[in-house]
Amino acid sequence: MIPSAIPNAEELGRFAIGFDERDRRRLHALWDEILDSQRWAEGVLIERFENLWGQRHGTGAVAFGSWTGGALAALRFAGVGPGDVVICPSNTFMATPLAAVHLGAEVAFVDCGRDDLCATLAEFERAIAEHRPRAAFLVHIGGHLAFETEAIAELCRAEGVFLIEDCAHAHGASLRGRQPGTFGDAGVYSFYATKTISTGEGGMLVSSRPDLLEYARAFRNYGKPDHAVGGLNFRMSEFTAALGIVQAERLDEIVAFKNRAARAVLDGLHPARLQLPEGMVSGLYKYIVFDAIERSTGRVYDEPCHRLMGHPIDLPVTDWVAEHHWCVPLYYRPPTLPA
Ligand SMILES: Cc1ncc(COP(=O)(O)O)c(C=O)c1O
Repeated sequence: MIPSAIPNAEELGRFAIGFDERDRRRLHALWDEILDSQRWAEGVLIERFENLWGQRHGTGAVAFGSWTGGALAALRFAGVGPGDVVICPSNTFMATPLAAVHLGAEVAFVDCGRDDLCATLAEFERAIAEHRPRAAFLVHIGGHLAFETEAIAELCRAEGVFLIEDCAHAHGASLRGRQPGTFGDAGVYSFYATKTISTGEGGMLVSSRPDLLEYARAFRNYGKPDHAVGGLNFRMSEFTAALGIVQAERLDEIVAFKNRAARAVLDGLHPARLQLPEGMVSGLYKYIVFDAIERSTGRVYDEPCHRLMGHPIDLPVTDWVAEHHWCVPLYYRPPTLPA
């Protein structure tokens, strides 16, 4: 193990995919394994990647070609279709509401908190009473968990609302040791090219419900074996799964590095930063501050989804947040390889 010094703010701010050069050889060895196996899809590496991700979460896990595949599987499993309402925070990427819209459902947007940029319990209570939704998305924005995740999950359970956690930003986060995606009925990760760890394209659904896991496996593969599930092709390839394995094994180190760098270099420069509650760890996909800063990667999202989609709902905190937060660049800098 090579000791990793913390680079300065300038270096931390140069964009880099969270891939560690020390993993290149191992990745190539895994790719050779696939080439030799003559099995490029639906093979053992998908299973290995799923097992790693599932073990981390204490759940089952099903790999997909993207977040969208996993989200559609979860929504379809919940029975979401035309005439249904799905709760969705407006402060998210358009992927989240569009998944519900794709299935013919109506989206009921909810406001977010100023402190965490995520949907609040009060907004979930309002929207459930108003819309009687079949399902809801809770999006963990920025790398931490929504501060009221536990209470929101409990409310959804009590009200019979199927809860999907959008964990696209939340790799490596935890709340009192518990992983994102384990509070609701399902959690869905993205491994898109800019995420804390990445496979270029990819996604993973986690859940403790065996019926949902079985459904998701059929959904990603045209409903095979018996076509009782109406799915299409949302599979991940073996080559992508190999990247996922080396990345998943490196996740704790990447998150530890980002947190060390944040404490040592960035916190002193940014007193008006997002503050986490006791017991929460952020994977620091984004380092969020509430003061305008000179060097920023911009905002997590510039324009809220309710505005992009023309919904005439008033979400004042979401609008405030869109104008008043910025992201300080913070990228993983692995130790260099020994000569
Ligand atoms: C919050 C959020 N949800 C969903 C997605 C969609 O992920 P994917 O591109 O893997 O479908 C993203 C990806 O950027 C995201 O940031």
